Amino acid sequence: MIIVVGSLKGSPGATTLSLALADRWPLDGGDPVVVEADPAGGDVGARFTLAPGRGLVSLAAAGRRGEQSPRALDEHFQELPGGLQVLCAPAGAEQARQVVGELGSGGWSLLRAAAQAQDRPLIVDCGRLDPLSPAGPLLGSADVLLLIMRARNDELSHLAARMPVVQGWGLPAWYVVVVAEPGRSQGHRVREISRVLGPRVLGPVPYDTDAAGVLAGRRRTRAGIGRTKLGRTVAGIAGALATTAPAKAAPPARQALPPLPPDPVWPDAGPPMWTGA
Ligand SMILES: Nc1ncnc2c1ncn2[C@@H]1O[C@H](COP(=O)(O)OP(=O)(O)OP(=O)(O)O)[C@@H](O)[C@H]1O
Ligand SMILES: [Mg+2]
Repeated sequence: MIIVVGSLKGSPGATTLSLALADRWPLDGGDPVVVEADPAGGDVGARFTLAPGRGLVSLAAAGRRGEQSPRALDEHFQELPGGLQVLCAPAGAEQARQVVGELGSGGWSLLRAAAQAQDRPLIVDCGRLDPLSPAGPLLGSADVLLLIMRARNDELSHLAARMPVVQGWGLPAWYVVVVAEPGRSQGHRVREISRVLGPRVLGPVPYDTDAAGVLAGRRRTRAGIGRTKLGRTVAGIAGALATTAPAKAAPPARQALPPLPPDPVWPDAGPPMWTGA
């Protein structure tokens, strides 16, 4: 199963969500790998002081050498405290753009073949899904896209403007993951967004600096994020995604998406309607 996580603008937490999903993935759902395919440059390597050059850079080099065997892929992965396996992007945008762009010429197929052979989900953090993003082609093999954004007018306006584009990607499934703003109940915003997008909306993912700090290498804790608000919410999302995973041998069906309202707009929310978030 391939889950692409991306944003439209800002830094709403795509990397954090990708790592949280992998961390909270159900035990019987395969051992996930997080692929940091962000053309703006990776953060995970610096956040966890990983070895530079091991990850997308070494995978791209293997693709250039024409390596065919997916078995040697483990040598490109690195392990985070707690055991998560990641394939990280280099920090600079120029090099990151290049290696993400190069994935299509061999590395991506190697990775997919290895993941499929070992029944491991790939959680691919593509960063911002700009129109010219070199990560765009990875969407073509995604089973699910999670578009993450904060429940703010500016971020939501980007979704409203790009809705036809997102629908045009023809993905088997896509959802909007709404992240709560610090210190505010976001229930009313999420309800409002849900009114337009229906069951496509997941969240709100709580604003949880402690758990986000663990996932960004700023905090160390033996307990991990399992019992945190963020961990519990993301466990629910991971569980739902894992149970809707397409059968391994299923053809890559590209079903038509159900029609959505043509011109979604989110007027100012006004006072909260409920405070259950
Ligand atoms: N749910 C959350 N609660 C609190 N802080 C969060 C949450 N999600 C992310 N953060 C924090 O926000 C910052 C940005 O998060 P992250 O790096 O995941 O964003 P991003 O969308 O990947 O950004 P970019 O596109 O720049 O890579 C980080 O400091 C992270 O710890
Ligand atoms: Mg990121």
